[in-house]
Amino acid sequence: MNKCRVAVHFFVELGNRWFAIKVVNSVDWGVNSLDQIRNFSIIAHIDHGKSTLADRLLELTGTIERRQMKEQVLDMMDLERERGITIKMTPVSMSYGGYNLNLIDTPGHIDFSYEVSRALQAVEGAILLVDATKGVQAQTLSVLALARELKLVIIPVINIIDLPSARTGAVRAELTKLLACNPADILEVSAKTGAGVPHLLEVIVAKIPPPRSEFAAPRALVFDYEYSNHRGLVVYVRVFDGSLRRGDPLIFGIAREKFTVAEVGIFRPQKEAVDSLPAGQIGYLVTGIKSFSRAKVGETILAVGQALPLFPGYTEPKPVVWASIYPTSQNDFPSLVQALGRLKLTDAALSFEEESSGSLGRGFRAGFLGMLHLEIITERLRREFNLSLTVAAPSISYELVDEETHAREIIYAPHRFPGDLKGRRVYEPWVNARVLSPVEYGSALLKLFREHEARVLSAELWGEDRTAFQITLPLRELMRRFFDELKSVTSGFASLAYEIVGLEPADVVRLDVLVAEEPVLPFTRIVSRLRLAHEAKEVVRRLAELLPRQLFTLKIQAAADGRILASRSLTALKKDVTGYLYGGDITRKRKLWEKQKRGKKRLLDRGTVTIPPAVFLQMVSRSGEE
Ligand code: GTP
Repeated sequence: MNKCRVAVHFFVELGNRWFAIKVVNSVDWGVNSLDQIRNFSIIAHIDHGKSTLADRLLELTGTIERRQMKEQVLDMMDLERERGITIKMTPVSMSYGGYNLNLIDTPGHIDFSYEVSRALQAVEGAILLVDATKGVQAQTLSVLALARELKLVIIPVINIIDLPSARTGAVRAELTKLLACNPADILEVSAKTGAGVPHLLEVIVAKIPPPRSEFAAPRALVFDYEYSNHRGLVVYVRVFDGSLRRGDPLIFGIAREKFTVAEVGIFRPQKEAVDSLPAGQIGYLVTGIKSFSRAKVGETILAVGQALPLFPGYTEPKPVVWASIYPTSQNDFPSLVQALGRLKLTDAALSFEEESSGSLGRGFRAGFLGMLHLEIITERLRREFNLSLTVAAPSISYELVDEETHAREIIYAPHRFPGDLKGRRVYEPWVNARVLSPVEYGSALLKLFREHEARVLSAELWGEDRTAFQITLPLRELMRRFFDELKSVTSGFASLAYEIVGLEPADVVRLDVLVAEEPVLPFTRIVSRLRLAHEAKEVVRRLAELLPRQLFTLKIQAAADGRILASRSLTALKKDVTGYLYGGDITRKRKLWEKQKRGKKRLLDRGTVTIPPAVFLQMVSRSGEE
């Protein structure tokens, strides 16, 4: 029988904080009927307080003792805590008034939206959290659309009402209009002080429907994975039907891989073993599978020999940027293979394929959902797997279509893009983006949109004093610091959400960078013809600033379509080869100068211009993207 700590909670308000008094009792976890379970997520724009609200829920339900509480306790990775952002969804089970509440906290940053979409398929309801000082933001609308698509029950909650700058009334009006709901249905909380959170718990139980089950035999949806050296593959599941127990022979419905359950458990938020996971429950299974499994997120777990309908699975996320990752030492290549495989298990949005480069050796071309995702993955590879890496050439992908045969080819790396298109057309991804901004920045925004080749699809008044723009623009332009510039021209007040919508013809060319007349492939970039002259000049200027002087004059050039578009010569560093000679023995001096000249020529002939790793990294890093 599954036992767990539960009980009656009394809430008291002392000063402006709420405290929970808990009478601890022991009840059977496994006796939960479906009626006693509520599964929900907290969704919001970045930084609207999801993890802090989760803290209060954990505290008020006594899941975590007050003295063990730390801020944003569900952000368990060091990186999440250091940066103050949620990267991974985190499930946790709480007991409250005889109910079993399963919460999945989700990240707010758009680069981690695949985590949100997976979490939402495992729950029946969502708390839509909106910061009272900022109001509805672009990403609020995107996560709301996801929740609506899945027909989840939505509980609108205004957070951060404790700050003097809170505009609770105006935000309530925005939400009322957006959700077409009764204003009284919108709750107000302070995730910081706990005000309003006890009432929210009651509303969760009252409004979120209990899960439903169709079959007696077990069927569970895999929404996440984890790998432990010692226990092998651990799967995070939402049980839809039947129940799962230790010792059960189970199978991944699509991968057809069998295993015997070594342990089942729930998240409190640390893993806690229980005897069984009943229908409706969220928990984990230790599979004991030690090799890399073929199973993916979105898999259906079934009992061996039972043929139940499989879940439709998750849509594969589309990478937004690609970057090459190489181990600094080729001896680390096998470790990089292993590390990427492991990370892929905990981050289903990561994709990669092997590639090799003359100067860097064997490595991978990896796809990411955005620049932050790329940054986080490379940081995790360095920290968690102790790898020293070179990350080169972040770029989007292009599609080439042969005009005669219609054969398609996808180009992930700029240096693989043909210099001469020879009867091929280029297509590039476009995004639809939503920008919400105070009305007064309208003209600055229109200028910014023009500079980034964006077309305005619609612009309408949002709430009292904001404009909602729907725009469409090439992904290439979105990646060219669009977000940073958007924040800068609106003093940080605008918000952005976007999705890739398809491919459109692109007028882009390959721009090569030559040093000592040799192309340096990792510096190759694909640029819009409109910006070609500017980019060519800029890249040459930047490299000329970064490259150390050599013993000979060095030419730095940018070329496209077989033409040199920009060029600079770095004058030679003069090394005094005659300095140690006394007096004026001119013949001896001449001999040394001649020798120096020959040496320089030899260096040039051999093309021995070594680009220092630091220059290399600065050129290919994010800031070198333009
Ligand atoms: P991401 O998951 O990274 O999108 O962030 P989040 O939505 O989980 O936000 P988080 O809980 O990390 O809170 C962001 C910041 O807002 C933190 O500094 C919190 O302390 C603060 N915060 C959250 N709720 C409140 C609140 O009710 N009042 C005040 N004053 N600050 C709050």
